Amino acid sequence: MGKIGSMHAQIYHDDLRCEIVAVCDAFSDKAEAAAQKYECGAFASVDEMLPGTSIDIVSVCTAGEENGGDHYEPTMALLNAGIAVLGEKPISNKIPEAREMVALAREKDLRYGINLNHRFTPAAERGRKWVDEGRLGELNIVNMTMWINNPKESPPHFHMRALHSHSIDVMRYFCGDVRRVQAFFKQGKGRQGWSNVQVNMLFESGVVGHLTGSYDAGPSYGLETLEVVGSDGRLVLRDACEHLEFYPRNSREVETHAYLGGMTNFGETFQSRIGRWIDQNVASVRPEEIDGSGAEALKAQLVIEAAIESWETGRVIDVAQD
Ligand SMILES: NC(=O)c1ccc[n+]([C@@H]2O[C@H](COP(=O)([O-])OP(=O)(O)OC[C@H]3O[C@@H](n4cnc5c(N)ncnc54)[C@H](O)[C@@H]3O)[C@@H](O)[C@H]2O)c1
Repeated sequence: MGKIGSMHAQIYHDDLRCEIVAVCDAFSDKAEAAAQKYECGAFASVDEMLPGTSIDIVSVCTAGEENGGDHYEPTMALLNAGIAVLGEKPISNKIPEAREMVALAREKDLRYGINLNHRFTPAAERGRKWVDEGRLGELNIVNMTMWINNPKESPPHFHMRALHSHSIDVMRYFCGDVRRVQAFFKQGKGRQGWSNVQVNMLFESGVVGHLTGSYDAGPSYGLETLEVVGSDGRLVLRDACEHLEFYPRNSREVETHAYLGGMTNFGETFQSRIGRWIDQNVASVRPEEIDGSGAEALKAQLVIEAAIESWETGRVIDVAQD
């Protein structure tokens, strides 16, 4: 029931298909305040919560080292209890733990999603439809820029591991799996950590990609620009949901869309992503059909680790298999 867990709770509360039956936080005052608001049980641990509480789905919004270090323990306990989990990103800063969570969900045949909310926007969906329909022709290049003004330091790869599950997931959404990675990092002014990065990627499809990432760039609210370039045209998606543009290759006639589906800012992506998670649970979809699944989040995390390994070894790295 930290900052992000409270956002999840409010979205479940506002959805008529859901009833909040329990909230949990290791700081019991946070759990109790939320329990009063949502008129439900308050617990200080998953182990205390599980007996006697009937739960269909749970959001796990812990944080921890590199914003993913604490997800493993509650997620494993919930999956072991047979409960579908929507975890926060990154799935984990530790690949073995990420693999274990994905494997347990698979073994138990449970839905396991991650809040990769940046691509749950009408603009991203429209762009993806253009790609699927062949409007861009054969895809050649993908460029992503994601930066946030975030002064938080340490551990040294906090920026890469905490933020770029989002950017890589959006790139994967449009261009598929990544096969090879090469990266350079730079410490920002006065920084101890690697707060700037340039990553080159080769996708399985042959698409060549580039990611520019930073915690040292303004404006304070961040910036996100995705460009997908094909043989017949190019799309540009700005700030997840705000602007989508199509530039045909052989004409100057640019098509622009603003605030598709009425979505106006990044904050609304939480509702669209969690809404999709609720839709898919209500529809009892097969676990492998979950959009933004744990398995997809693991693939993004493997690209992150390959980028770090590239910087540490000076080599081009083959992305590990999930
Ligand atoms: N999807 C997004 O756009 C987005 C944006 C920001 C943050 N996040 C992610 O959201 C997550 C949470 O971030 P936050 O800022 O709310 O963190 P936070 O520290 O404010 O909240 C985490 C809460 O989890 C509790 N907790 C930790 N381990 C627990 C356990 N085992 N049992 C019960 N409670 C436990 C802590 O007491 C704390 O209250 C992070 O993983 C972060 O990366 C996602």
